[in-house]
Amino acid sequence: MQEKTSSQGSWASRWVFIMAATGSAVGLGNIWKFPYITGENGGGAFVLVYLVCILFVGIPIMMAEVFIGRRGRKNPVDSLEDVAEESGQTKAWGLIGIVGMFTGIMIFSFYSIVAGWVLNYIKAMATGELAGLTSDQANATFKALLADPMTLLGWHTLFVVMTVFVVARGVNKGLEMATRIMMPALFILLLVLLGYAMSTKSFSAGWHFMFDFDFSKLSWSAVLVALGHSFFTLSLGMGTMMAYGSYMPKKASIGSTVIAIGALDTLVALVAGLCIFPVIFANGMDPAAGPGLMFMSLPVAFGQMPFGQLFGFLFFVLVGIAAWTSSISLMEPTVAFIVERMKIKRITASIAIGFIVWLLGIACLGSFNFMSNITLFGKNIFDFLDYATANIMLPLGGIFTALFAGWAVKSKFSEEELSVSKLFFSYWKISVMVISPIAVAIVFVLNL
Ligand code: TRP
Repeated sequence: MQEKTSSQGSWASRWVFIMAATGSAVGLGNIWKFPYITGENGGGAFVLVYLVCILFVGIPIMMAEVFIGRRGRKNPVDSLEDVAEESGQTKAWGLIGIVGMFTGIMIFSFYSIVAGWVLNYIKAMATGELAGLTSDQANATFKALLADPMTLLGWHTLFVVMTVFVVARGVNKGLEMATRIMMPALFILLLVLLGYAMSTKSFSAGWHFMFDFDFSKLSWSAVLVALGHSFFTLSLGMGTMMAYGSYMPKKASIGSTVIAIGALDTLVALVAGLCIFPVIFANGMDPAAGPGLMFMSLPVAFGQMPFGQLFGFLFFVLVGIAAWTSSISLMEPTVAFIVERMKIKRITASIAIGFIVWLLGIACLGSFNFMSNITLFGKNIFDFLDYATANIMLPLGGIFTALFAGWAVKSKFSEEELSVSKLFFSYWKISVMVISPIAVAIVFVLNL
């Protein structure tokens, strides 16, 4: 019998799947967001909660998403519906995929703004504008960028176009090519930066900040941020991993593959933190400075190290690429859905979604200047989209996926797809049926 595959194509091998899924997972979430939310939430104890969430909630849910996609071999909505039907359940489970598409568009719109900052810093590194900045100057440079809507718009537009370009080319020519070279390169550059951070006197201060677990600093809202971020950083809760799973070869074991992806993603986040915090402490900056943390600290570090301009340039290029391989995955589920359901060409679908993201992105960039007085629930539009997606929509999407995989899908099917040991399967099953849903429910309730 011929193996069922997706009409959109499939990854050349298990290794390519790992690269692509890691490309999706590793992004601004690891290098930009993780350090700044760690800073805002007091360090160590927050990091510990985040690690626990990755291990006990994130990994099992990623396994669920990948197997649903691979079994359905279609876009997330249709895969959910087909897998539900096969187990004699209602097609209403497809709603998880529908909500997920909106979540993806919302995330992409603010993601693209931050990616635009990165593009701006690539240029600034190349032209030497940032050479030898003091921390106050680095601070002022970043603030000046935020105050300039036309520059932000230019970079945002460029980033949306770059993403549309890759998604329009499709799975093999687009997504696959983009991740194969970039991921290893990013890793090497991070290690260079880590080497520099370790050579500074403040390395131990950075280390202690991240790994001394002081639970008195931990609040329930910090726990929610850690939980939400575990979904965000692993690209869970909106169908990305279902879409990527649908292109995965059948032979590969989902269990070990997902663990590899989770481990790589976590490693990149921790290393990014260890690169940034020493610089923060060495220069008397505030770890709780918020979204600008990376942009205000790293230029100072690059200014002080040998070949700093070159390394700085390369570093921002790679962060840009990491963001790019992630933004692709924010669009892919929706584009696959439009192509398969509505029989619209991939290029048309990609441009249409790109346009919506572009428009919504303008409201996000305006949050820092001409629209800063517009607020939703006390947050500007940028912060609102970030908060609502990461801390509410992704966890909810993830939980319904877990409930679906654990309770609705027949055990026979999930066991067959995951192909892991009996013991691991039992653990997975308990996690998606009980542990993950209850954990998220508790964190939600305590935040109300
Ligand atoms: N995981 C990516 C990051 O950390 C962002 C991302 C890509 C994402 N696809 C996603 C987040 C799907 C949530 C859902 O930067």
